[in-house]
Amino acid sequence: MIDFELTDEQKLIRDTAREFADNEIAPRARENDRAERFDHELVAKMAELGFIGPILPEEYGGRGIDYRTYGLIVEEIGRVDSSARTVISVCTSLFGSAIARWGTDEQKQRIIPGLTDGTGLGCFGLTEPDSGSDAASLKTRAEKTDGGWKLTGQKQWISLGNVAKWALIFAQTDPEEAHKGLAAFVVPTDSEGFSSSEIHGKLGLKASDTAELSLDGVEVGEDALLGEVGQGFKVAMTSLDSGRFSVASGCVGICQGCLDASVAYAKERTQFGRPLAAFQLVQALIADMVLDTEAGRSLVWKAGWLKDQGRPNTLETSTAKLFATEAAIRTANNAIQVHGGSGYVDDYPVERHLRDARVATLYEGTSQIQKLIIGRAMTGVNAMT
Ligand code: CAA
Repeated sequence: MIDFELTDEQKLIRDTAREFADNEIAPRARENDRAERFDHELVAKMAELGFIGPILPEEYGGRGIDYRTYGLIVEEIGRVDSSARTVISVCTSLFGSAIARWGTDEQKQRIIPGLTDGTGLGCFGLTEPDSGSDAASLKTRAEKTDGGWKLTGQKQWISLGNVAKWALIFAQTDPEEAHKGLAAFVVPTDSEGFSSSEIHGKLGLKASDTAELSLDGVEVGEDALLGEVGQGFKVAMTSLDSGRFSVASGCVGICQGCLDASVAYAKERTQFGRPLAAFQLVQALIADMVLDTEAGRSLVWKAGWLKDQGRPNTLETSTAKLFATEAAIRTANNAIQVHGGSGYVDDYPVERHLRDARVATLYEGTSQIQKLIIGRAMTGVNAMT
């Protein structure tokens, strides 16, 4: 049975993440957003507290904690700053969980300790200029060489792509095989022929690094192959099962952050001789925010609980991701409504939350893709192709 009561250890980890978010992240979030600054110092501090890769095995430098506890950390960081949260989600789920699940012992030894101590971040190179939702159609080529592989292609919208030490690159070994020809490679980003460029002009997540990657005949050894040739698509999907959980947890954090800010503002701001909180229509906005926050959290916890039980959870993870990401947009929008004009400028965090929430229904599978995954699971009919 799922237990909603947190253990003492979970409370301690959540409270540590909460204090860190309030004391260390909140004071710098606005300036990092304005300056579009990727905050390396903050990454080092998060690593020091064990927030990068906490679900990864202890023997390689992770903390070996369960998914529900991981979700608590991600929620607390996401409550304050989604750009900082992105570092945790990408390194832990999209990149780290793949190394832990599919890597050889040697690969885990080589990669995970630096990932968790913050000195060797990882990024996830699946999306390309011509392949987004239809991930299996990616065009990056992997050609066999004498001692390994040669990789050629482009990747787009890659979070942390300019700051990572490692890129998990998905490439096609045999176009005739479609998704069964895909393979995953862990590529050092300082390899010859590997280059990255920054993407600017984003609506939100401005303090998160976003890159376009170019692989121009990058040569890697056999030890770069993660899993087997033909398993690349499964590697990507299992990473996304973890990543979507993380995004959903972060979005519950956005909901909670918006709710907290709105309650405080509604009690402090006076109009018509009464605090905003005394108006029924303001209370209705707050009630809607509570509903979205609590429902999102329950779905996230259920998905995390299934993961911790080792049970299938793709359906529940997609359900949590779909709901929590859409809820974050609604809740941030409602929070701006409560704040009025003050919510439209960055004196308060709510406009940043709305801008940051917006991408969450796009990346790691759009809301439409989540609906198709849910629809297929319920009906047994594939409506994607
Ligand atoms: N776990 C394990 N295996 C899985 C799986 C899962 N969750 N989902 C599918 N598979 C397996 C299937 O079992 C199947 O295996 P077999 O070949 O052995 O039968 C294989 O993968 C193919 O599955 P599908 O038939 O379901 O594949 P599809 O082509 O219909 O695509 C899809 C499915 C759900 C649409 C998938 O392409 C998808 O998730 N697309 C969205 C891509 C996405 O989320 N991109 C985000 C990029 S990352 C990002 O945004 C982060 C960033 O840095 C910005």
